[in-house]
Amino acid sequence: MKSDEKFVKKLEFDEAVIRLFKFLERENPEVKNFLIKSYKGLLISPETEERFYNYFISHSIFSTATVANPATSVITELLYKGAEKLNLPSPIDQYFLRSKAGRSIKARLKAIEEELHKIIEEYRQKRAVLIGNLGSGPGRDVINVFASHYRNTLDVRAVHIDKDRFAIERGKRIATIKKVNHLIDFIEGSFLKYKPVKKFDIILLSGILCPLEFEICIAILKKIKQSLKNDGSLIAGNVSKKMLKEDPFTCHLMKLGNWRMVFKDEDELKQIFKKAGYEWKRCFTDSYGFNIMGVGTPHFYF
Ligand SMILES: C[S@@+](CC[C@H](N)C(=O)[O-])C[C@H]1O[C@@H](n2cnc3c(N)ncnc32)[C@H](O)[C@@H]1O
Repeated sequence: MKSDEKFVKKLEFDEAVIRLFKFLERENPEVKNFLIKSYKGLLISPETEERFYNYFISHSIFSTATVANPATSVITELLYKGAEKLNLPSPIDQYFLRSKAGRSIKARLKAIEEELHKIIEEYRQKRAVLIGNLGSGPGRDVINVFASHYRNTLDVRAVHIDKDRFAIERGKRIATIKKVNHLIDFIEGSFLKYKPVKKFDIILLSGILCPLEFEICIAILKKIKQSLKNDGSLIAGNVSKKMLKEDPFTCHLMKLGNWRMVFKDEDELKQIFKKAGYEWKRCFTDSYGFNIMGVGTPHFYF
C-alpha cells in the first residue's frame, strides 16, 4: 500500500475527510495530493502550492472569505446555519460544514445562548440589564436570546459593536425580522475605541480572542474593563486545544486558508483573565469541548 493510501486509511474514522478526498480524487487529484503532503509537512514546490491556492480560493466560499478577511463573521454565520440548512456547491465548503470543528461553532452558539440567558436572569433580579456584544458580527447570539425570552420586556437591552458595516447592517435586518430591533443599538466601529454612555452589566466577546496571541488578549480584556460595571460579567471565549487534537485535518485546512487560530486551554484562558484583572468565576464549553467560554468579573484596584 502506498504511503498516501495508508495515510487516508488512518483518517477513515472521519467520514467527512474521506468524502472530500473521494471527490478530489475524481475532480483534481493534484489538490488531494497537495493536501496530504502539506498535512504531513512534506516539501512542496511553489508551483504546486500556487496551483492549490488558486483552486482553493476559486472553489470555496470559506477559503475566499477567510483569505480576504480571516476574522469575517460571514464564515461564523455560514457555520451557524450548518450543513443541514445550507447546500453549498463546493465539496470543500461542505467539508467545513460537516467537520467536527465546523459543527462545534454552531454548538458554541447554542451554549452561549443558554448561558447568556442564565446570566441575564441573575442580574435581572437586581436591575435592568445592558449587554455589550463586542465584535458582535450581526450578533445572532444576543438576537436569538432576546427573541426567545425578552421580546416583550423593556429591562434588557444590548449594544452591538462591530467594525464591519455589512455585519452591522445584517444584524439590524435579523433583529428586525426577529422583532427585537427596539432592544438593540447597532454601532459600526472599533470596540477598542468605544466610550460607553452607560457601563455594561455583561460583555460578550465571542470569536475575537481565537486568532490572537496571549499578550494581545490580555491587553484587549484590560481595555474593555473600562466599559464593564464593577460587578459586571465578562464572557470571553477561545478555541481550545481539544479542537486541534481531535480535528487536526480541519485545523490544517483552516491554516491553509489564512484562518489561523491560537488554540488555548482552560488554564491559559484563566491566566488571560487573571492578568487582565478579572476574577475567574467559571467556564462553559460547546458540546464538543472545542470552544471554552470563560466567565469573570473585574477586579478594580484603587
Ligand atoms: C469571527 S467574527 C465573530 C462574530 C460574533 N461575535 C460571533 O461570535 O458570531 C469576529 C468579528 O469581530 C469583529 N471585530 C474584530 N475586532 C474588532 C474590533 N476591534 N472592533 C470591532 N469589531 C471587531 C470582526 O469585524 C468580526 O465581525
